[in-house]
Amino acid sequence: MKALILAGGAGTRLRPITHTRAKQLVPVANKPILFYGIEAMVAAGITEIGVIVGDTRDEVMGALGDGSQFRAAISYIPQDEPLGLAHCVLIAREFLGDDDFVMYLGDNLLEQDLAAFTAAFEQARAGSTPPDAQILLKQVPDPHRFGIAVLDDAGDVVTLVEKPADPPSDLALVGVYLFDASIHEAVASIAPSPRGELEITDAIQWLVDQGRRVRCELLTGWWIDTGKLTPLLEANRLLLERIDTHIAGSVDAASVIDGRVQVAEGAQIINSTIRGPVSIGPGAVIEDSFIGPFSAVGARCRVSQSEIEHSVLMDDSSVIEIPRLEDSLIGSFAEVSRTRRKPRSLRLMVGDHCQIDIE
Ligand code: G1P
Repeated sequence: MKALILAGGAGTRLRPITHTRAKQLVPVANKPILFYGIEAMVAAGITEIGVIVGDTRDEVMGALGDGSQFRAAISYIPQDEPLGLAHCVLIAREFLGDDDFVMYLGDNLLEQDLAAFTAAFEQARAGSTPPDAQILLKQVPDPHRFGIAVLDDAGDVVTLVEKPADPPSDLALVGVYLFDASIHEAVASIAPSPRGELEITDAIQWLVDQGRRVRCELLTGWWIDTGKLTPLLEANRLLLERIDTHIAGSVDAASVIDGRVQVAEGAQIINSTIRGPVSIGPGAVIEDSFIGPFSAVGARCRVSQSEIEHSVLMDDSSVIEIPRLEDSLIGSFAEVSRTRRKPRSLRLMVGDHCQIDIE
């Protein structure tokens, strides 16, 4: 089985961060979102991975390389325009050949391992009524934001519809799909949707309409489509929930480490309190500050005389003299500092290289 990971797309809902970086490379719990998906593939035994790249291809290719850091072999498939998820399958035809494959949206994060999901498909494929596709569904409170499935009494997929204004169910399509080679005929047979994209949802509906079997599994663990700030911070929180304490950097005698905290090599904690779960990246310096739960501070960041909670600071950013920063995403090399009066509390999304002075 091969994997097709989608890492194109403009990331418009995460601007300004995505003006300068791929949304799939924004870090959560100090690791790029995309790495979690690739690691999940490799853990499921899938090492032949095709990655669809768009405008941010240089950055994505720079971060993933040839895949050897993940013990995988990565091939890149350029998509010149974001013409839809089914279009990605279309242009990956040569890479995929006639093999079964997992398609994984690079901005999705799942609590559950993929292995059980791929094993269930393989087992079903060996059975008497082999499915041509398998989708993963999750009940959501806001179904109009997703592809939605309607099942019959036997639990088989009957109807799929992309972002319906009037959702016929609350079962959303998670961004992990399994296909056999029949999907190639499907993606070549559908027309663009009203938003001008070839929708994978429509391609799967095409399979159903052709009398093909589409299996579904219900996801029990959490699932996050990280394309916006709030879910991104939520993913950061959920992944930090899993960390164990590991202190490689230095913590001076005046500092307090409370709860599960990671302090990477070369990081320095000076006269500060770190209340976990928190991850502090390599070379970061935290001085006279409080870093509260669910914060991830990237490599070489500087935090001084500030209080931070439930936030992501990307590499090389700094927060200086800010009484309280929460629910924020601060881009690489950005600097947030205070010059005079005290603001009470800040909630910010700051792009790379920005400089914010609070007067
Ligand atoms: C895409 C799919 C949608 C699916 C979602 C999962 O939406 O079109 O069917 O439910 O991913 O993340 P998009 O992220 O393109 O809005």
